[in-house]
Amino acid sequence: MDKKRLLWIAGIIILIFALASCGGGGDSDTSGGDEEATVASKGDPDAGKVHYDSICIACHGPTGEGMEGLGKPFTTSEFVKNRTDDQMVEFLKVGRPSGDPLNTTGVDMPPKGGNPALTDDDLYDIIAFVRTLQKRHRLEAGHPLRPDPAGSTRLSHG
Ligand code: HEC
Repeated sequence: MDKKRLLWIAGIIILIFALASCGGGGDSDTSGGDEEATVASKGDPDAGKVHYDSICIACHGPTGEGMEGLGKPFTTSEFVKNRTDDQMVEFLKVGRPSGDPLNTTGVDMPPKGGNPALTDDDLYDIIAFVRTLQKRHRLEAGHPLRPDPAGSTRLSHG
């Protein structure tokens, strides 16, 4: 946990330095500006989307909301959130048959979504894309408590 916070702070510091150096020097050498902020996923979400849209979308829907009687939503999935990319790849390789005690829907999650041609790299890409779906969902959902100042008017009994 602390490590995560440290990473955030390091990221912010790097950002500040990057911004500061933009204003100052007029040097054209940009070799030092590597993007280190992409530690979270080693896959390429854009490449992953291509596979997702041809395989996983059938059961999990275009936004990962899931489809009735087919795939589970993973926009809110703790399972996805709490697993590393490596663990997710292992999961995708075996899937989760309906007979698995962890299966909650009674529907098969086929190994590699039913496409044995997917390589490990493909799976890492897909996972990177799935994580963007989670992130997007979180941003769109906003705060469940709705910090709306006008909401306080409901104190009075009409
Ligand atoms: C034929 C339909 C089908 C396809 C295709 C499919 N899935 Fe699934 N998937 C399921 C079902 C059904 C479950 C839920 C199984 C259960 O009840 O636990 C599931 C579960 C999952 C979970 C676990 C979610 C959780 O919260 O437990 C992940 C992650 C997942 N699928 C990813 C994928 C990815 C990535 C692909 C594409 C490579 C894919 N699935 C393709 C049907 C499918």
